[in-house]
Amino acid sequence: MKVVHTIAELKELVSAAKIAGKSIGFVPTMGYLHEGHLALATNASRENDIVVMSIFVNPTQFGPTEDFSSYPRDLPHDTALAETVGVDIIFAPSVEEMYPTDGGIYIRAGRQAEILCGATRPGHFDGVLQVVAKLFNLVQPNYAYFGQKDAQQVAIIQTMVRDYNFPLELRIVPIVREEDGLAKSSRNVYLSAQDRTEAPAIHAALRLAHDQMLKTGNVGQAVAIASAYIEEHTSGSIDYLQLLSYPDLSAINDKTEQVLLATAVYIGKTRLIDNVIFSLKGEKAYV
Ligand code: PAF
Repeated sequence: MKVVHTIAELKELVSAAKIAGKSIGFVPTMGYLHEGHLALATNASRENDIVVMSIFVNPTQFGPTEDFSSYPRDLPHDTALAETVGVDIIFAPSVEEMYPTDGGIYIRAGRQAEILCGATRPGHFDGVLQVVAKLFNLVQPNYAYFGQKDAQQVAIIQTMVRDYNFPLELRIVPIVREEDGLAKSSRNVYLSAQDRTEAPAIHAALRLAHDQMLKTGNVGQAVAIASAYIEEHTSGSIDYLQLLSYPDLSAINDKTEQVLLATAVYIGKTRLIDNVIFSLKGEKAYV
């Protein structure tokens, strides 16, 4: 496995892979890898000749009061873990390498970014699209792997890929959970012992709402059941809990087939997100 820090080094490796006719699977990350990231790389490794993983804590997707400087980082540990799941190239650039100049040209996420996480994190998805577009151009992957945990992010990137004709396909990998249901996240390290005991209630609430929705199809009732469960079983506060059609992220109507039930909850000072995606006919579910 090679670890490179510059765009020049990455371009050389990518161009050698392309000349050799190899397919490239790409796993973009901000590092501090957990099993969720490793599942992305495992899928990428199964489906491609070469796996490139980026490890870059992207400053442009953090708000001024968010945790950019304290976001957990551990490149040596990440490198060792990535090697175990078939990553061939790690691209770990500095901020200066990724953003040497500012020509004032930005990508703006549209309507899908105004709700859910986008409502309380203005500009977040613009920053995500900025870095992801740059990384797609640098890595030139056949397939790019994203976790369902960031379902809104996936939907917005999917729109960018479609609208701007990026020549690649996205692969969505289901959420990896702890045994008690808590979705794996780099931010779980922030949870106190008490927070950690409360956090699994988020997934339990989503499951209850999922079951209710399949039984009655009543959006308001399903959302109310999940909210009540979180309020009863945690000391946290709900940032949002919404049921929307997926991946367009609009209100559910008679024609909706697939839905996203997504939530963000502050447990202590940690903001946890989680979701379930399912067909209203009960055929297919990522719960
Ligand atoms: O999901 C993440 O970790 C980040 O938003 C991403 C896609 C790596 C862009 O910085």
